[in-house]
Amino acid sequence: MNHPRIVVIGSANIDLVTRVPRAPKPGESLIGRSFATITGGKGANQAVAAARLGAKTLFAGCVGADAFGAMQRQSMSEAGVDVSRLKMHPSEPTGTAVILVADTGENVIVITPAANYGLTPEDIAALEPDLDGADAVLLQLEIPLETVEAALAAARRRGVVSILDAGPAQQVPERLVAWADIVSPNETEAEAMTGIRVETLADARRAASALRAMGAAHVVLKLGARGAYYLGDREMHAPPFRVKPVDTTAAGDAFTAALAAAWGRMPVEAALRFANAAGALATTVAGAQPSMPTRAAVEAMLRDGPQET
Ligand code: RIB
Repeated sequence: MNHPRIVVIGSANIDLVTRVPRAPKPGESLIGRSFATITGGKGANQAVAAARLGAKTLFAGCVGADAFGAMQRQSMSEAGVDVSRLKMHPSEPTGTAVILVADTGENVIVITPAANYGLTPEDIAALEPDLDGADAVLLQLEIPLETVEAALAAARRRGVVSILDAGPAQQVPERLVAWADIVSPNETEAEAMTGIRVETLADARRAASALRAMGAAHVVLKLGARGAYYLGDREMHAPPFRVKPVDTTAAGDAFTAALAAAWGRMPVEAALRFANAAGALATTVAGAQPSMPTRAAVEAMLRDGPQET
């Protein structure tokens, strides 16, 4: 099988990660267990994941002229990502994410986009020819919405499948949902977009139907420990792989990148299973980019289990 070509347009952050026994209550001070500075950002994580999964990957984003920006450039380059479209902001620092990871593996994240907001619709116009022949364009919501909109329009003009990972949670104009070929939120993001709280598979069906009514051709809901739910011309639930999570940060990014690498190359059911395996593997390693799995690891998981339940 030839390698997919994927273009990721999005954020590159440095994650400032403190491990805590549990999330603090408002006004409470907690003693952390450890602290680490780790490469992250939904866009950059997805680019690293796509490259590790064997895709020829181009990343477009914007970092600051600082040590964090250099860290990010190095991490993506080492993973094999083409960073020729990674800009350097003249004044803003590299984006950061302050992350608390509890002993359960669950996290809370606060992002300061900074240089990420320097990626403009003009940058998309300049890179549009790079989209020709790509298998997929991956977008998230940590860069300006007008840049996301320009990228979705460019993908449509060039006949490239676009996948909108709807994180972090926010209300988005309906046209963004309509212009993306695949819309892929998690439960919180789906609620922000539709107003429907997603706690059960029936809720997932309702939220996905609402996104379809806004114009999304394909909806892939990331349900974490409940797997994934697909609604397009048919519906499907892909059960999760049971693993013991260490850190759930960027599991959704691994899922989205794997979905992009598999889409159109295997039946939807197999693509969801491939993405679920990548997401589950990402939870077994601490940190965002360090946890993005290789294709060999995903294939081993699909072959040898643990099986889905
Ligand atoms: O999806 C996880 C990512 O969200 C983190 O790496 C953090 O940087 C934020 O962008």
